[in-house]
Amino acid sequence: MSKQDSHFVNIFGLVLGILIAVAIVIFGVSRAVGNTTQRQHVQEEDLYVEAVAARVAPPVRIAVAGADNSALAIVAPAAASAGPGLAVPEDGAALYAAACMTCHDAGIGGAPAMSNHAAWAPRIAQGTATLYKHAIEGFTGETGVMPPKGGRLDLSDELIKAGVDHMIGMAR
Ligand code: HEC
Repeated sequence: MSKQDSHFVNIFGLVLGILIAVAIVIFGVSRAVGNTTQRQHVQEEDLYVEAVAARVAPPVRIAVAGADNSALAIVAPAAASAGPGLAVPEDGAALYAAACMTCHDAGIGGAPAMSNHAAWAPRIAQGTATLYKHAIEGFTGETGVMPPKGGRLDLSDELIKAGVDHMIGMAR
């Protein structure tokens, strides 16, 4: 490298360094100025103040007699009943298809199959009250385990009874 070239590189590097230093100083000064002016403006902004008030407000609101308390209306949590879940069968036949058939159609896990009339005859002979009880509360007999309500504990006793009636009708 010639003498002139290295002189140019030195000057060029120096200028570059000074420019970077100036940029950093400007950056720092603008931050400092912004901190004392801009930020205060933001903090005094109505929307900002409201948002902070809402965030730090206590979760309990107190109704005041004589005042407009309509904003305090109790809102039921949405989708308390709706939402994903198992469909509720409407009658005994639908219940059988939804909750009982898995075991009782083919006779899985010791469950008496619906076509097996000989297996059902002595069970039916116990009386419907016993069958209802065993279907609702569950039952462990000689052939296997009948889970309470066939595992659908979310369903009403009445619906399970309707299901048992439906099964008795098929098993006879
Ligand atoms: C996981 C399998 C399974 C499901 C699902 C199931 N059962 Fe059963 N159920 C059984 C078994 C096993 C038995 C036989 C128990 C024994 O006698 O040892 C039985 C027996 C019964 C009996 C006869 C009880 C008795 O006293 O002899 C009734 C009635 C019955 N189930 C109704 C239902 C109904 C109604 C449903 C649906 C809501 C249902 N089951 C779903 C396995 C099942």
